[in-house]
Amino acid sequence: MKVAVIGTGYVGLVAGACFAHGGQRVTCVDINADKVAALRDGKIPIYEPGLDTVVHDAVAAERLFFTTDTGAAVQSADVVFIAVGTPPGEDGSADLTYVLGVAEAVAPHLQGYTVVVCKSTVPVGTCDKVEATIRAHSDADMDVVSNPEFLKEGAAIDDFLHPDRVVIGTDSDRARERMAELYKPYIERSEQVLFMARRSAEMTKYAANCMLAARISFMNEVARVCDALDVDVLDVKRGIGSDRRIGRHFLNAGIGYGGSCFPKDVQALLRTGQKAGCDMALLESVEAVNAVQKGLLAERVIAHFADQGGIADKRIALLGLAFKPETDDMREAPSIVIGKALVAADANVVAYDPVARETAYEELGGDIAYAASWQDAVDGADAVLVITEWLEFRGISPEELAAATDCRVVFDGRNIWDPAKMARAGFAYQGIGRRAG
Ligand SMILES: NC(=O)c1ccc[n+]([C@@H]2O[C@H](COP(=O)([O-])OP(=O)(O)OC[C@H]3O[C@@H](n4cnc5c(N)ncnc54)[C@H](O)[C@@H]3O)[C@@H](O)[C@H]2O)c1
Repeated sequence: MKVAVIGTGYVGLVAGACFAHGGQRVTCVDINADKVAALRDGKIPIYEPGLDTVVHDAVAAERLFFTTDTGAAVQSADVVFIAVGTPPGEDGSADLTYVLGVAEAVAPHLQGYTVVVCKSTVPVGTCDKVEATIRAHSDADMDVVSNPEFLKEGAAIDDFLHPDRVVIGTDSDRARERMAELYKPYIERSEQVLFMARRSAEMTKYAANCMLAARISFMNEVARVCDALDVDVLDVKRGIGSDRRIGRHFLNAGIGYGGSCFPKDVQALLRTGQKAGCDMALLESVEAVNAVQKGLLAERVIAHFADQGGIADKRIALLGLAFKPETDDMREAPSIVIGKALVAADANVVAYDPVARETAYEELGGDIAYAASWQDAVDGADAVLVITEWLEFRGISPEELAAATDCRVVFDGRNIWDPAKMARAGFAYQGIGRRAG
């Protein structure tokens, strides 16, 4: 099958490479000529474990190509994926400019029966608009299908090759057959493919992300109460996670959700619901709790130094910058809020992240210093803040940390250390919702 993927970002590049890995002939298109040139040179523009191997193998097998020419990629394609961004507009609604722009751009080039797939996360009714846009510019034989993407950055290849489920929204038998054929290499059990109406598929994606965001905000709120009442949130997590109705995943308290999806998708569903006349009190709270949580660590460290001459000129070490481990994605990362708040309070901020240094620089610029290792970051620090739970940091023992720095003040935004062990190593340690050691 010939596949065109329009938009070669996290989703488009992973999807394109994985479809090529599964045997299809894939052309990935992007309007960013530098990105296309880099990909043609074998350079992967994002950090995603395993992606380089899948891309290089598929290119070597002559099944994966990169171009800026949408028309050429689309005209021979059996399936065209739209995988461009849907950033929040001014009021938080998903901005569909890029998606509908692609619909208009591909329309005149469709030849033979083509399935046009909306993989971008889009509000209910967007596939109807994509279809209307294409029909306004072409009389091509085609169906528009909703096929939202559920991959997680940091584990994207594995998620794509071994999906929990593939959601396909269409009423067309022809489109259903073609999509089933395309996904066949990745499907072990028929229940993994969920066919449904297009609008249901569009809603499913938002409901999934909003549910996960709600769990995070819920646990963060529980952690605040734990902090106030000397209860360990990790005990509570174990206690509730063992209930099969609740499940063990997504129960970590921390410093709030970030990334390119949860913040914008919560906002988008909020606005969609409000525009439809629905009271969206729960999602409003999910967002409000998250906003407070993102500022929590900066507030705590500023308060800590308030009676010690203030935080001005104190050296504050940030361990991690990316919004989560195994990615260099800095979009909506809590580190941005924390870094900016500390810089505004005149602290000297020095940060170390194993991979996100360049992307972090785009957000935080030269206002903070970037260390070459965690040891360099904590050396001479007045306080150490854990921002991202990279494995590299999880592996640091309290004794190792104590040997690397004279600093004995730690604010752990990801609960990677044990309070009792940290206390024994001499640290004044504060996690999120953890009992003092
Ligand atoms: N990143 C994730 O983890 C993730 C997961 C699931 C779903 N999604 C959704 O997938 C969509 C894409 O997200 P992303 O993170 O890959 O975005 P991204 O910003 O990383 O990539 C989008 C790409 O599209 C390109 N582009 C824009 N307009 C174009 C056009 N007219 N023609 C060709 N290329 C064009 C951009 O240059 C960019 O490279 C969004 O709707 C997002 O919500 C993202």
